[in-house]
Amino acid sequence: MTKERSITAFWVALLASLASALVLGIQAQPGFISIDCGASNEYIDENTNITYKMDDGFIGSGKNVLMSRSRAFDQNNLQILNDARIFPDGMRNCYTLKPDQGKNRTYLIRAWFWFGNYDGKDQFPSFDLYVDVNYWYTVDYTFYMSVSEEIMYVSKADDIQVCLVNTGNGVPFISALELRALDDDIYPLRSGLLRVSQRLSLGRSLVANPVRYPDDVYDRVWSSWTDVNWHMLENTSAIDLSDKNNAYKVPEEVLRTALATINSNSSLYFLRTFDRGSLAWAPPKKWIVYLHFMEIERLSGPKRELTISINDNQFTETVSLEYLKPVAVVSTLVSGPHIILSINSTNKSGNPPILNAVEIYNVGDLPIVPTAQDDVKAINDIKAMYHIKSESWQGDPCVPSEFTWDGLNCSYGNPPRIISLDLSNNQLAGAIPETLAELPNLTFLDLSGNNLIGSVPEALRKKVVENHLYMSLIGNADLCLADPCLHKKKQNTIHVSIVTLVSGFSAVLFGALAIIWLIKRKQIAESSKRMLKLKNRPFEYGEVSKITANFGRVIGEGGFGKVYHGTLDDDTVVAVKMLSESSKQGYKEFQAEAQLLVIIHHRNLVSLFGYCDDSKHMALIYEYMANGNLRQHLSDDHPKVLTWSKRLQIATDAAQGLDYLHNGCKPPIIHRDLKTSNILLNEDFQAKIADFGLSRAFAAENDSRVSTRPAGTIGYLSPEFQSSGNCDKKSDVYSFGIVLFELITGQPAIMRSRDGSSFKHILEWLIPIIESGDILRILDPRLQGEFNINSAWKVVEIAMSCTQPRAIDRPDINHVLAELKDSLCPYGKVAENFPI
Ligand SMILES: *[C@@H]1O[C@H](CO)[C@@H](O)[C@H](O)[C@H]1NC(C)=O
Ligand SMILES: *[C@@H]1O[C@H](CO)[C@@H](O)[C@H](O)[C@H]1NC(C)=O
Ligand SMILES: *[C@@H]1O[C@H](CO)[C@@H](O)[C@H](O)[C@H]1NC(C)=O
Ligand SMILES: *[C@@H]1O[C@H](CO)[C@@H](O)[C@H](O)[C@H]1NC(C)=O
Ligand SMILES: *[C@@H]1O[C@H](CO)[C@@H](O)[C@H](O)[C@H]1NC(C)=O
Ligand SMILES: *[C@@H]1O[C@H](CO)[C@@H](O)[C@H](O)[C@H]1NC(C)=O
Ligand SMILES: *[C@@H]1O[C@H](CO)[C@@H](O)[C@H](O)[C@H]1NC(C)=O
Ligand SMILES: *[C@@H]1O[C@H](CO)[C@@H](O)[C@H](O)[C@H]1NC(C)=O
Repeated sequence: MTKERSITAFWVALLASLASALVLGIQAQPGFISIDCGASNEYIDENTNITYKMDDGFIGSGKNVLMSRSRAFDQNNLQILNDARIFPDGMRNCYTLKPDQGKNRTYLIRAWFWFGNYDGKDQFPSFDLYVDVNYWYTVDYTFYMSVSEEIMYVSKADDIQVCLVNTGNGVPFISALELRALDDDIYPLRSGLLRVSQRLSLGRSLVANPVRYPDDVYDRVWSSWTDVNWHMLENTSAIDLSDKNNAYKVPEEVLRTALATINSNSSLYFLRTFDRGSLAWAPPKKWIVYLHFMEIERLSGPKRELTISINDNQFTETVSLEYLKPVAVVSTLVSGPHIILSINSTNKSGNPPILNAVEIYNVGDLPIVPTAQDDVKAINDIKAMYHIKSESWQGDPCVPSEFTWDGLNCSYGNPPRIISLDLSNNQLAGAIPETLAELPNLTFLDLSGNNLIGSVPEALRKKVVENHLYMSLIGNADLCLADPCLHKKKQNTIHVSIVTLVSGFSAVLFGALAIIWLIKRKQIAESSKRMLKLKNRPFEYGEVSKITANFGRVIGEGGFGKVYHGTLDDDTVVAVKMLSESSKQGYKEFQAEAQLLVIIHHRNLVSLFGYCDDSKHMALIYEYMANGNLRQHLSDDHPKVLTWSKRLQIATDAAQGLDYLHNGCKPPIIHRDLKTSNILLNEDFQAKIADFGLSRAFAAENDSRVSTRPAGTIGYLSPEFQSSGNCDKKSDVYSFGIVLFELITGQPAIMRSRDGSSFKHILEWLIPIIESGDILRILDPRLQGEFNINSAWKVVEIAMSCTQPRAIDRPDINHVLAELKDSLCPYGKVAENFPI
């Protein structure tokens, strides 16, 4: 019993696997891609057993229509002709075929057209067909008959594109598209393509269907052809055609019939006029002719011996035929407007000449070189990654040049290359792909005004720094330039802290936080929308003058020169910093540096929108910071007092900006001149560091001219900077410590005595007091005791560690940042940083 059951189970399993193998066998003809354009489902064609797929996986444009077959002249009832895809929009629409066999293989590619008057206008469209970047054929039929266009083609890339090009003569359409992988040696192609003019099975009844798959393993379509002046020969008995003597795999159905002349001494003379029977004058073309012979009569006398001549002996050959052995004769290249073929029997033979089948190919050139493959791959990765649906983003990105994708410019060398890419304001979301750096000749990249996140790939950053690439990333609010991306990390911590808050405090608080967060997000979105409109190119001096209303309103004066109020065309308010004459020594470095700074965006760094560098005038156009600088807010005469928590928030913001410069940028950016007057506040009192990065450029010009270097401010200079001029991250940390002390005490770095006669460094004043343990005496009296004493102690400790005399004793800014965050929340966890 058990044994029986297991045997049954065995058979069930075997049958199941056989069945699934059968299903698979039907579904996939190996090496075939068969697409019924416009079909609403996949199906198996009943005449051929070929599985046809719908076309939506192969093309992203166009729409499906049903075609009427009521006017069909041909009785060829192909299901593929029932519907079609039409392309009312776009100049060029392309199908992308990805054969498993990949590039450098010979493929047969066939497109089917049946115009079924789908729009009732009875107007036949005309349009061009391209294979990859090269012209294939102009589809221009003015009769109700199904037609197909077929080529043999060697692909240079793994993908093959078949494109329909609108030439202004009606809406292009296509009924079906087929690709078949061939054995490379039967239609050898070194360059160029073979377009099928005729492929005829001779002596076959005209009413018989064309021979194709499965009789022809390559699915070549052999049309029937005969001539009443000649004999039709046919041998209906089974013929065994082994592959060995049938290298061209001509189907038995095709070889079993032939045409013969009536007399042995007359010529089998054959004139084909092209195109498609048109008697109009045709320009000379290049041809290759394949002749297929097989002796199908058992002759009593001598073997048939035939002499072949094509186009006035441009090609000649003599063959003798053996019973049931296929012989293929492939011509050399012949030229002329027509093909004139004559086949005679030699005197020896005594039997009339025969011919079983003929293939006539038109040899086409492929003059246009496609875009470099690595560029194509990179740009297609970008297209896929960002789901770019632009009408023009089909086919080859650069060529033919009239179809270059929108937003791209190319150089048309051999091969063509992408040199500029403008994807601004495209609502692109996601990370910046590494592949952008794989466009070797790219010199201009505009990604501004999108929703990009993550960090800028190292390779791209390097290109910018080395001055090979101009890149704009303005208006991507969530993009961070750190690696690893600090911004991302922060969002995770926030998530945790919000959860902590909800469980620890009340849901009301969480709701309030969420609302603030949403409002902030909206503001950010609006401000980045404003930024998009900016031109990401150097500004002209004239424009700078216009923006600042002829330098009408000075809003500040820094180490490098005056700062003016400015307004852009779209009413965005900006700060325009003009660099003074004396800063001009560093012109070249200024350019490189400005290009780098334009791509640096962090919420705690003042954004550089653009710059002017016409060699006479250097200007930097910055984000406008409504609440001025921190020094102003700390001074006694400022009407409003910054609360303790606001000060802590400002300290954390500034530390965040500095951490980004030190640890997020590669190579790190040393500020060299961090001070309270370089920490600016926007309308929400969010702190941002200004003037970073510039000192490096100016210092680089001539390091020995320390005195003229506009970097560093008395009171903030670390001991080692003062003594040796050496400046590194730790010098910035020292300056940051001074900033912290200013926040704690409200005093400036260099304190003036009451009568104004003497000056004292802030540390000289406060260190003895701190050492005495009486920190209340140093705290800003304007706070009026409203602070948390633990958090105040903590910040004093941090500031002390930052201002250690020996650089090695000072912490890294990321450590400082972590400590500051701790001090922000007396309960130990960060809660006040919203991910904006
Ligand atoms: C199609 O497949 C079916 C089932 O395998 C078979 O019976 C039929 O003969 C096939 N038709 C052709 C045209 O090969
Ligand atoms: C393409 O294939 C042929 C052989 O079929 C080979 O000789 C040739 O080197 C290949 N070319 C490339 C670029 O792979
Ligand atoms: C061709 O052969 C036929 C007989 O088979 C003969 O009548 C005819 O004269 C021949 N023609 C020529 C041109 O030799
Ligand atoms: C074939 O025979 C015809 C006459 O029937 C003759 O004109 C032609 O030159 C011959 N061709 C060859 C290649 O012998
Ligand atoms: C067809 O071929 C068979 C052998 O396969 C042969 O006996 C027969 O004579 C041939 N028929 C004709 C019309 O030549
Ligand atoms: C074939 O025979 C004809 C006469 O029957 C003769 O004129 C011709 O030269 C011969 N051709 C060859 C190639 O022997
Ligand atoms: C691409 O850049 C390389 C060097 O970077 C250069 O040799 C080549 O000519 C450029 N190609 C084009 C088409 O501009
Ligand atoms: C491409 O070139 C045209 C004409 O030179 C220019 O107007 C356009 O801005 C360029 N586009 C890009 C993305 O560089």
